[in-house]
Amino acid sequence: MKYHIVTYGCQMNLHESEKIAGILKETGYLESAPMEEADIIVFNTCCIRENAENHAFGNIGALKKLKREKKNLLIAVGGCMVQEEGKAKLLKEKFPFIDILFGTHNLFELKALIERKRMQKKAVVSLLEERGETEDGITPVRTSYPNAWVNITYGCNNFCSYCIVPYVRGRERSRRAEDILREVQALVEAGYKEITLLGQNVDSYRGEDGTTFPELLDRVASVEGKFRVRFMTSHPKDFTEELVAVMKKHEKICKHLHLPVQAGNNRILSLMNRRYTREKYLEDLAILRREIPDCEVTTDLIVAFPTETEEEFADTLSLVEEADFSSAFTFIYSPRTGTKAARMEGRIPEDVAKDRIGRLIALVNSKTREKSARYVGKTVEILCEDFDEKKGMYLGRDEYGRMGYFCSDRDRIGEFVDLKITEANGISLYGEEA
Ligand code: SAH
Ligand code: SF4
Ligand code: F3S
Repeated sequence: MKYHIVTYGCQMNLHESEKIAGILKETGYLESAPMEEADIIVFNTCCIRENAENHAFGNIGALKKLKREKKNLLIAVGGCMVQEEGKAKLLKEKFPFIDILFGTHNLFELKALIERKRMQKKAVVSLLEERGETEDGITPVRTSYPNAWVNITYGCNNFCSYCIVPYVRGRERSRRAEDILREVQALVEAGYKEITLLGQNVDSYRGEDGTTFPELLDRVASVEGKFRVRFMTSHPKDFTEELVAVMKKHEKICKHLHLPVQAGNNRILSLMNRRYTREKYLEDLAILRREIPDCEVTTDLIVAFPTETEEEFADTLSLVEEADFSSAFTFIYSPRTGTKAARMEGRIPEDVAKDRIGRLIALVNSKTREKSARYVGKTVEILCEDFDEKKGMYLGRDEYGRMGYFCSDRDRIGEFVDLKITEANGISLYGEEA
């Protein structure tokens, strides 16, 4: 029996899909296959913005025909969208052919849910309000070699006013430092070359013995072997010099910080409940760059938050200039039912929002191009992670997160390769082995 998993959303979800695959294997589904050949199809959904939901709705709906043709096919839908208030009910009504609906807190139950469904005709729906424990005992089927994701926290307590995550992922829980270190050690021994520590807000990690995030990072980077350490996501309100000191101390820690700023105007930042100012953010970047001059910073930006004026949006543009980001994810504000911002007046019309994001993307892209161009002629070390069939080239990222492409006549995946950069295109670099 075969499985197919469709994943939407962030790294957290990608890693959770690896855990879902682990459970499916235990349940008797032995390998991954294209959708048409699968005996079970699992959707791992996201609800961070409306378009993420629309995507999932469209693709689940399209399965009706397959389900009719293939009587024994099981369809399971899980993840953040299912955990949203009222969504499980809506999904059930809209798509009566869904067999199993499960939330973010009961992933570990999936095996039992599948077994229950095999015994009954009726759909199985299981949602939990909250989950206390942080060890799920699931062995993931990792699909991203040579990179491996390792959860350090689950959930989020920040309640940024626009964000649905705290509602669908629950309160923040930290894993035990010992468990994290044991997992990292085993991954390095198994040959993984890049460890990414995952949490909605990694900086607020607190081990049961009081271990802080910089301390945890220090211990992870002290594990023996040649590998890289990344982490995401950091919250500017928790930025500390201690974190910078640990990043500086270890060569293994990539000189890249993803530090979502969201907006460049203090009134908007306050309405977003971000708990830092533009000035504080820029000061922190200055500290980071004073200590680690070549550290690259990337960010997330939201335009057209309720009541955002043209002048306030211009503050986001000027921040992008000042902060010198190497790239940024840009989003149009999307109201999420249940969040504070969704109840605010002053929605920005769609045409204004589109105009703003267009201008922001143009600026971000020009900055990215400018920065990438500086790499031409330099040699960078990339960790080869894949082969691009279309380009006929191997690719990998440098420690700053830039993608480097090169040709090779043998399989290089999992190797560190020194590339002399000959050409830059957007965030991608092209080079020859040095
Ligand atoms: N925990 C991480 C990731 C959150 S989701 C963090 O705090 O950075 C990733 C990004 O999606 C956020 O940084 C934000 O820029 C964006 N986002 C979240 N909710 C949104 C919404 N309602 N509308 C538009 N963008 C949103
Ligand atoms: Fe959402 Fe804010 Fe938590 Fe990130 S820190 S997940 S944006 S509430
Ligand atoms: Fe989406 Fe859930 Fe991640 S809402 S962004 S998949 S935490």
